Parts: sequence; C-alpha cells; structure tokens
Amino acid sequence: MSDESPDESAWWQSAVIYEIAPISFQDSNGDGKGDLAGLISRIDYLKWLGVDAVWLTPIYRSPFRDLGYDISDYCAIEPAFGSLDEFDRLVKALHAEGIRLILDLVPNHTANDHKWFVESSSSPNSAKADWYIWADAAENGGPPNNWLSRFGGSAWEWCEARRQYYYHSFLVEQPDLNWRNPQVRAAISEVMRFWLDRGVDGFRVDASAVLIKDALLRDNPPNPGAAGKPPPQRHTPVFTDDRPETMSCIEFIREVIDSYPARLLCGEVQGKTDRIGHFYGTERPRLHLPLNFVLLDTPWNALPLQAAIDAYFNALPEHAWPVWVVGGHDKQRIASKVGAAQMRVLAMLLMTLRGTPFFYMGDEIGRKRVTIPPDRIRDPFEKLVPGYGLCRDPERAPMRWDASPHGGFTKGSPWLPLEADGGTSVTEQQSDERSILALFRALIALRRAHACLRQGGYAPLRSHNDVLAYKRTEGRNEALIVLNIAAEPRKWHWRGRGRLLLSTHLDRPSEPLPDASILLRANEGVVIALEVR
Ligand code: NOJ
Repeated sequence: MSDESPDESAWWQSAVIYEIAPISFQDSNGDGKGDLAGLISRIDYLKWLGVDAVWLTPIYRSPFRDLGYDISDYCAIEPAFGSLDEFDRLVKALHAEGIRLILDLVPNHTANDHKWFVESSSSPNSAKADWYIWADAAENGGPPNNWLSRFGGSAWEWCEARRQYYYHSFLVEQPDLNWRNPQVRAAISEVMRFWLDRGVDGFRVDASAVLIKDALLRDNPPNPGAAGKPPPQRHTPVFTDDRPETMSCIEFIREVIDSYPARLLCGEVQGKTDRIGHFYGTERPRLHLPLNFVLLDTPWNALPLQAAIDAYFNALPEHAWPVWVVGGHDKQRIASKVGAAQMRVLAMLLMTLRGTPFFYMGDEIGRKRVTIPPDRIRDPFEKLVPGYGLCRDPERAPMRWDASPHGGFTKGSPWLPLEADGGTSVTEQQSDERSILALFRALIALRRAHACLRQGGYAPLRSHNDVLAYKRTEGRNEALIVLNIAAEPRKWHWRGRGRLLLSTHLDRPSEPLPDASILLRANEGVVIALEVR
C-alpha cells in the first residue's frame, strides 16, 4: 500500500509481489505442513523485506493431490491450513502492515469430490449435469477424441453412472468445469465475491488460457516438435488451449473484479510473448497482469536478454502495464540456472525493469533446486510423467528460516525434505549485510525511493561485451542500470555524470562517479542516478 502511488487503484503498478506456497512457508503446529498461523507469524519478515503484496497458492479445502489446485470446497479453508477465522486474522494482520493479499482462483477445474462434480456425475439428468464437460464415447467405445491430459494419458475419463466421458485437462481427479454454462460462471463469481468481501485484494487466475475447449471436439493435430518432449506434448493443443472464446471468460471474471475498488487480476497464461497482448484486452479489459515468464526462458546472456525484453515490451498494447516473474511453484529455480553470483544480477534486473516484479519465496535467499529422493516425490506430474526432469518438488521444498535441521520450518517432520547438506537460511543472511537477501531488500527499498524505477520509461542502451544496460526515466529523474553478465570485469562507458546508488556487491559507497565510465567487477550490476542537465 505505497502511499507514493499516483493512483491508488493501480497500486499493483508500484508493488513488488511475493509468491508463497503456504504449505512450505511456516508450520505452526508441528504437522510438517505450513499453515495460516505460521504465515501470520512471518508477517514481520515480509514487512522487513519490503514486499507490497503476497500471492498464496490455494488454501481451500482440498485432497491436495496437486498442491491444492484440486479444490473440494472453494469457500472453506483446508483444515490443515487453519480456519476461516484464521484467514480473517491473516487479512487483518497483513493489511495492518500495508501488505495486500492475492489468492489463487482456480476456475478451470475442481476436485472430483467437489459436491458439484458428485452431483454432475451422478446422472445425465442431474441439476448440474452440464456443469462439467461430458461427451459420449467414440464409435469404438473409446474416448471422444485424441485430447491429452497435461499430466499424461487421455484427457477423458469414463463415468459408468452417466455412461459418458468427462474431460480433465490435468489429473483424472480434476474434472474441468464447463465455462459455456452460465450457471458455472455465476457460481465462480459467487466464489470470488465470497473472498473479495473478506478483504482479498485480487486473484491470480489459474490456467486462464484453457477455460474453453473446442465445441466440436476436434482432434488436436500432431506436434512437429514433439521429439524428446514428454508424451502430453505429442499434439499441438490448438483445440484445447487458448481458444478465442476463453477471452469472454476472462472478461467475465474481470467484471467481477471491477465491481470492487482497487482489486488486481493477474493470470497464468501459456502464450508466447507475441500472444501476451490479447490477454490484456482490447475493447473490454481482461487481465491487469498476464504473468510473463520470459526472463526464465531466455538464455542468460546480455544480447538474448535484451532481445527478449524488447520483444516483450514491443508486444504490449498501449495501455498495458508490464510484469516480470522470476520464480514460481511450477518453475525451476532460476538460481540453479544462472548460479549464485548472477542471481544477484537477476535481482537487480527484476527490480529495475519497468513493470511489476514477482518473485517466489526463497528466491530472495538465492535458493536453488532441492534434491528430492525418489521415495519422497509428491508432485503428481512427476509421478505420472517421470523422467523428463520436470518434477516441481525441488521448488516446493519448505522455506529455510534458520540453520536447524528442518530450517525452522517445522518442529515435526517436513512434508517435503529440505536440502540434505544444510544450505543458507534467512536468519544467517539477515546478519550478513552483503547477503543476497540484503540485496533484495536494498533493491526493493531503492525501487520504492525512486519513482523513475517504478513508473519511469524504459530505454535500452546498446548492449555489448556481456553488459546489459538500460535507462529508466521519469521527468527529470533518470537512472542508468548496467549489469555485467560475465564472470570477469567489464568496462562500461556512458555520456554524462552520475551518482552510484547501488552495486549488487553491496560494498560501494553511494558517491558521485567522477567520469563517464565504470569498471564493473565480475558479476556486478549497478544502478546509477544520472545528472540531467
Ligand atoms: C497451474 C498450477 O500453477 C499448477 O501448479 C497446477 O498443477 C495446474 N494449474 C493444474 O491445476
């Protein structure tokens, strides 16, 4: 809730957003799983770090086959996390510290024990018969078409009671809702209002690009690039994903959001950069922030990074506000890809680009992927589609708060293991003034202190010699960001005079820079305030 934002209703443009998977954040009762009381006990940390909003992965009642993305009751808290009273306490406690709360909205599918599905699957004549996607068998008695589940095998499951198949984009236990049915839309809007009325500041819409599937149930064509990819990628999902009609669902969800003041709608979209524009909406507003993972997918070098950043900015419609995501519960830890030294450079890039930064719990301590022994694997994707190195548990391991064996996460036995060999913790890094945690905190503070870093325009500078450079400008305030992507020193020249504001090494004083060049040490990034004449 930055009071420096020019327009409070667009608070999310100035915000730094932190993703939390509550099951792995802080356990309060020793059952080895994080919970709401634990999260409340860590609000001091969130405040200290300086984040403006947290996004929680699902906390609703769920059998938890898919990290809670299989929901049995949208309007109840999963008992392992706590109660609605605790949830209300969480909202109050976060808001008291000026931190906003974003929940995950999972409108595409429920769990198969949700009462809607129980009723829908009981008979083709039930009142909710048309709430899910049902289809008759093909002539040979098999599934209606060739659609594949993202979690392996056919996306159709036979239901004896109806003598029909139902469609599931993900697990068999996650039937897809039928978004063509206005009753389903109305039911989801009631769910949204339930939480918005309790003070939630917005939603991240799960799987927002797949809400509608082809009405003709046409087969997906073969994917020419399938070699070496997991079996669910055998087809190009043109008739199941990113259908044009899906946009009307997002518009509908946005209307609900817009009936409350200052709420945020962000969403998981599977498009490439060139598709991102339409998720923002043209005639009618869609997502405020279609999450953009391009930094995760780009080779870690100055030129490809600059090309990807430019391509993204160029793809945005005029009114669109950019967004950058560097971690998440589905994404491989970026620190494992770029290494500890460049993770600091990445932090500076994230916090100085134009657009809302999102990072994931543990990124701020430079957390890498945690090795999960095969017998401890929980991710259903890895169980069903093993062997492609795509298991998501290494990212979902519990937070490491201190140096104790379970990292201060739990007094019991953690639901997923932490690093076997210790690993760096929040407490250790809090007492090291040059830690990556200290850097994240300093960068968040710098962004808050300088309007040009939050709202300013972005202008690339010619990158060469492993150096990625750009300017951010707001009125007469200008910042120059120069990032050395190499593990060797590099010199950078520019015209003008400036004052160094921050180095990723956290060891340079903030002082005037005497001439128009700077020697960057290995893996060093700097932010320089330029003197505008
Ligand atoms: C997207 C979520 O981010 C992911 O974790 C989940 O497995 C799928 N949706 C299915 O719910």
